[in-house]
Amino acid sequence: MCGIIGYIGEEKASPLLLNGLRRMEYRGYDSAGMCVLHGDRMYVKKGAGKVDEINAKHNFITLEGTVGIAHTRWATHGQVNETNAHPHLSCNGEIAVVHNGIIENHQELRKLLLEEGHRFTSETDTEVIAHLLERGYRSGFDVRLSLLETVKMLKGAFAIVALFRANPDVIAGARKDAPLAVGFGKNENFLASDVLAFVGRTDKVVFLDNYEVVFVRKRGLEFLTFDGTPVVKTPVQVAWEIGDVTRKEFRHYTIKEIHEQPDTVERAIYQDRDKLESFCKIVRDSAKIYVTASGTSYHSGLIAKYLLAKYAKIPCEVTLASEFSSLNGLIDERSVILAISQSGETADVLHAIAAAKRSRAKVLSIVNVVGSSLVRESDLGLLMNCGPEIGVAATKSFTAQVALINLIVAKLSNGNLVESHLKSIVLRVQQVLRNEEHIIEISKQYSENPDFYFVGRGIHYPVSLEGALKLKELSYIHAEGMAAGELKHGTLALIDRGTPVVVINPEDDTYDDTLTNAAEMKARGAKIIGISTKISDIYDEFVRIPEGHESTYPILEVIPLQMLAYYITVERQQNPDYPRNLAKSVTVK
Ligand code: F6R
Repeated sequence: MCGIIGYIGEEKASPLLLNGLRRMEYRGYDSAGMCVLHGDRMYVKKGAGKVDEINAKHNFITLEGTVGIAHTRWATHGQVNETNAHPHLSCNGEIAVVHNGIIENHQELRKLLLEEGHRFTSETDTEVIAHLLERGYRSGFDVRLSLLETVKMLKGAFAIVALFRANPDVIAGARKDAPLAVGFGKNENFLASDVLAFVGRTDKVVFLDNYEVVFVRKRGLEFLTFDGTPVVKTPVQVAWEIGDVTRKEFRHYTIKEIHEQPDTVERAIYQDRDKLESFCKIVRDSAKIYVTASGTSYHSGLIAKYLLAKYAKIPCEVTLASEFSSLNGLIDERSVILAISQSGETADVLHAIAAAKRSRAKVLSIVNVVGSSLVRESDLGLLMNCGPEIGVAATKSFTAQVALINLIVAKLSNGNLVESHLKSIVLRVQQVLRNEEHIIEISKQYSENPDFYFVGRGIHYPVSLEGALKLKELSYIHAEGMAAGELKHGTLALIDRGTPVVVINPEDDTYDDTLTNAAEMKARGAKIIGISTKISDIYDEFVRIPEGHESTYPILEVIPLQMLAYYITVERQQNPDYPRNLAKSVTVK
């Protein structure tokens, strides 16, 4: 949820750390800070707000020194203010810490440390880490022992990077249930939550596993487990392209990523055939499939359920990762869990698969971020290959997931769904994007409406949920996604004169029934925005999507909904890339 970065090398650290902060801002953007060691002093600058706002005030790059750490925050404990921004220092100011995660026993530890005379300055859970390190250090431990002793005392999830004034030749890191990667370059090394933070400098990466610490020097890395056992880790090479995070000609990342979809959908269905076959074999050999995910990825999971049932005749249960415990007692060694996640770091998803693994189930995954925890924890994972998604709202990752699910289902369908149904998808995605001007017009008309409804039937129902989620999270307008047939069971009471209802209704076997539901709403004064292959008098606004195979309609339908949410947000003069209270990667429960 937060972004952490450390640098040690021969260059001035602050510009590199600042660049890393900007690239990790999607992980949390309520405050940020930096600590650099220069001469024999630690210099800290931090504040509340976005990285560039804080930088305008503090000018991070005035910090000299070739070793430092930095942080972008998404608050969990303590208000958003300068004091609670990281880095946090020990009492004597000799140790600085940045942290991503939650220290569950921080109150207990704070009490212990206070009794021992430590003085706290912030309300954060993180600050206990700085004091615990100091406690070890004061008792004569070196950096290594101080860190090993500290991590043993922490409960919860954490990725930590720490800097010691008296040991300028090292930065220390530790990981449990929150991502941490080491990037190693020539005479310089990085530690960060995300390779994006440093991939412009090096493409050689080692991902820490849970219960590992690392001591990073200018020319050397030392990995140990929490009990002090040395670990040999081999670097992997990540693609330089994943560092391409510029907005190009677009005003926001969100709209840039919406426009990338012809390309990203194509990349998602370009899979290694042997790996795809092994993935499908695991599904075929299982007794029961459970799909789990959160947010937008959960909506892809619901689409998987419809497609698996219809074309592969495979029943599956789709469960929100945060509700996975409702399956307790059902999962065993013959079960397969399919976890879907853009980031591969969503805590709820990781907890769900950990529980499934304890029941000896097999774990398959569909993930975007290379090297993420979910990829590494899965028995087999397929990558969506859609490049970094920086906009907080998931857009291109959703269509990539749905495209890849189509490919998997085709493979499992014994010829009921042939892969060639995906052949013209790129062209059709391009066609849908041409509705942009029209959607801008619609957005202007409806941007002040307090409530929106999105309805669809069958495979279009998850798309209605996704359309509502996009609008809520970006524009802050109340929105509900509904199964079209459910309206008359209560929600119809809320439909009033002028209420906008987005009806997702291409011509398939759901068409007539959904159109009837649209007519019922129109009769009660609703303004109907139809997303369909076929125009109808019932629609007050009509957005045409091209005809194609019905299993690919969710990819085409969601794009106008993404654009609608984006342009309504812009119309309301809010920043769609940074919705309030949210962060891209939810690494806390
Ligand atoms: C919505 C959104 C979130 C994520 C959810 C899961 O636009 O971005 O709902 O979909 O937090 O994230 P991943 O897919 O990374 O597990």
